[in-house]
Amino acid sequence: MIESDFENRIVSTTFTGEDSEIESSLRPHRMEDYIGQNKAKENLKIYIEAAKKRGESLDHCLLYGPPGLGKTTLAGIIANEMGVNLRITSGPAIEKPGDLASLITNLQPGDVLFIDEIHRLSRAVEEVLYPAMEDYAVDIIIGKGPSARSIRLDLPRFTLIGATTRAGQISAPLRDRFGVLARLELYQPEELRDIVLRSAGILGIPIEPEGAMEIAKRSRGTPRIVNRLLKRVRDFAEVKGDGMITREIADLALQAQEIDYLGLDAIDRRMLESIIGNFGGGPVGLETLAATIGEEAITLEDVYEPYLLQIGFLSRTPRGRMVTPNAYRHLGLNPDPEQPAQMRFEE
Ligand code: ADE
Repeated sequence: MIESDFENRIVSTTFTGEDSEIESSLRPHRMEDYIGQNKAKENLKIYIEAAKKRGESLDHCLLYGPPGLGKTTLAGIIANEMGVNLRITSGPAIEKPGDLASLITNLQPGDVLFIDEIHRLSRAVEEVLYPAMEDYAVDIIIGKGPSARSIRLDLPRFTLIGATTRAGQISAPLRDRFGVLARLELYQPEELRDIVLRSAGILGIPIEPEGAMEIAKRSRGTPRIVNRLLKRVRDFAEVKGDGMITREIADLALQAQEIDYLGLDAIDRRMLESIIGNFGGGPVGLETLAATIGEEAITLEDVYEPYLLQIGFLSRTPRGRMVTPNAYRHLGLNPDPEQPAQMRFEE
């Protein structure tokens, strides 16, 4: 498979230019408008209220979980609730220690610095982050060679919010410097339905609750996908119907995009079929599978697997990935009755 296949799929969780336009108009600005993620949200509300009562900045927070779940949105809400500025950057964008030093020395007291994909920071940049997070100071080297000396600049108290899809890849010293760790989960269909209804309300799109639920059920637990599908279904409603998004129109539009009733697209099906066709249903190692379907192991793990695991179509075993009997049935195939016991359907 070529990469553009993956990037262009409508159920991709990769952030695109069109998403930026959609997301900025739909992004909630207050906790009370942020749907779902109740555990993370309730805890964060308390930490925010407590920090505000004490007149302090919020502790550094690490948000982790699959892509497209609203980590940037949540960082924006936190900054807004704290009444401070939000500065957004990402791990790959900070190339040199000096880039980070100039970012943090320009922060105002209490500001939130959001670093997306924080697991991709280089070691040298991380080294600058440690004293910044812990002592609110940055050590700057002046000069070169034997005459080089280091001066320490004090920083205002700020809040670092790091986001990552892979908490396991964050170095221990960095992880230990976050006071708050919040795991974001894939959304339930009812939560996504509420997000669709909210987004449709903002965009002035007529929609029936059943139409919203149909889109929600086929969005792989991901708000970024739900909002993207809403716009495509609207096109169908306007051309093939009277503009109202009904369950039938949503179904028609999603079928036309080859998104099945569980939200799987052609690429998901190809991945499951490859495990079945080439590896007898598994177990197959992640790297082997990635090479077979021409995708990066990291992408399989971050993007495809979370949803397939959640709906119980894939299981992870010590010997590799296995397709479950439920996935066979979904693909219209007969699960082999002689499959080993661990292939039983499990959540
Ligand atoms: N848009 C994206 N994520 C959202 C959420 N969790 N709640 C409301 N709107 C959203």
